[in-house]
Amino acid sequence: MSGPGAKWSAPVAVFDSGIGGLTVVSALRRVLPAENIVYLGDTARVPYGGKSRETIERYSAEIAQMLVAGGAKMVVVACNSATALALPRLREKLPVPVEGVIAPGVAAALEATRSGHVAVIGTKATIGSGAYEQGLRAARPDIRVTSLACPLLVPLIEEGLLDDPVTGAVLERYLAPLRSTDVDTLVLGCTHYPLLAPAIARAVGPSIGLVDSAANCAAVVARLLSARGLAAPGTAAGSLQLGFTDPPDRFLEVAGSALGLDTASVTVRAVPPLGQ
Ligand code: DGL
Repeated sequence: MSGPGAKWSAPVAVFDSGIGGLTVVSALRRVLPAENIVYLGDTARVPYGGKSRETIERYSAEIAQMLVAGGAKMVVVACNSATALALPRLREKLPVPVEGVIAPGVAAALEATRSGHVAVIGTKATIGSGAYEQGLRAARPDIRVTSLACPLLVPLIEEGLLDDPVTGAVLERYLAPLRSTDVDTLVLGCTHYPLLAPAIARAVGPSIGLVDSAANCAAVVARLLSARGLAAPGTAAGSLQLGFTDPPDRFLEVAGSALGLDTASVTVRAVPPLGQ
């Protein structure tokens, strides 16, 4: 591969609409401790999940272009909404490899389910795209999939209401119907949702296990870097740089400590118009 980010020491760039993609960064840091990681959360425009395909594609392309211009050797789309609606365009346009989170989430669900009935929760954009259902059915045509859009969860998480009666009531409203089904696996189809995992587990009850994309996504990235000769040598100590398009509030510290990430140095970066 040639291009601006082809050297092993170039960063792996990760983006999301806000702080949710840090759940993927946390898995990447565990699996790939030698890699330099640059994270960009589009906090100026979060949430993406209620917006149109055109807008999500444009926002994703703008953010990804910034990251590639900064020298990234690959881009990880740590947002299900952007993966569902923008991944093919990003792969077409960008000169570096691009990975998303939906195929890894599908793989996690297929590994976990015994009953063959899987539920998926996500934003309106992700659920409306049908991307999880398509991925699950392509691998296992007899699978049953119940998909639920949960549009209030990202704003509650970005507000830091992780353990709050309001969030509990919203989860009860969205998820109570799953308790009377034979669903045994719930896919957290939004990278923000692992931050709510304890509350979600309480809402669905003990017979439904939760899975998300993070660990499988990190494994896919590790394989890709090594297959392309782009992996940092095991002796290097990787760094983590966090950037946001609007100053993040105190919740970044809460999320960072929940995920064991160093959030001490954070930059704010304006998004240039597409193509600049
Ligand atoms: N973390 C993003 C996702 O996985 C949140 C989307 C949003 O901003 O609504 O879909």
